[in-house]
Amino acid sequence: MTLDLKALVRSIPDYPKPGIIFRDITSLIENSDGFRESCQRLADAHRDKGITRVAGIEARGFIFGAGVAIALGVGFVPIRKAGKLPGETIGQNYALEYGVDTIEIHANAVGPDDTVLLVDDLIATGGTAIAAVSLLRRTGASVQHSAFVIDLPDIGGAAKLRAQGVDVEALIA
Ligand code: PRP
Ligand code: ADE
Repeated sequence: MTLDLKALVRSIPDYPKPGIIFRDITSLIENSDGFRESCQRLADAHRDKGITRVAGIEARGFIFGAGVAIALGVGFVPIRKAGKLPGETIGQNYALEYGVDTIEIHANAVGPDDTVLLVDDLIATGGTAIAAVSLLRRTGASVQHSAFVIDLPDIGGAAKLRAQGVDVEALIA
């Protein structure tokens, strides 16, 4: 497992707006070795942590979260944007650059007996991940571990997440 994962991530300038360099993981997951190795490395970093569930954040977090859950042999919990889950839900608002958004999980998806690994493709401001941790913790679940393919360290989200008592594993900075 010696792939240069960073080389497989495509950078697209000025998307979705001027000044943003979009780190596009579609080029990584189109490469079967890159996709498999990404999921395996994120799973391997958490094999001895007693993880009982992987929670992935819509939409790109579903891609890697599902692979990590299979590699760890545990179930997958989707954290969805508001209004998408059919059962009883609990939700958490979080700030965007402009306005607010809401994420939801099924209320009974995790609970006090669970140790949850949070997975997403990328952490930037950390706003999405911190909202996800708050949401999961409201069920009584233990959330002390997170895994990302990409961290944008200059933006500082990983440091904010660590300050919430969550360790942060990232494959690419
Ligand atoms: C992206 C990314 C993370 C989040 C990171 O998702 O997949 O979930 O932004 O940004 P933050 O650390 O500043 O919160 P996006 O909301 O664009 O949704 P998508 O996965 O549906 O494209
Ligand atoms: N989500 C937040 N910032 C991002 C970036 N620069 N590239 C891809 N996804 C992102």
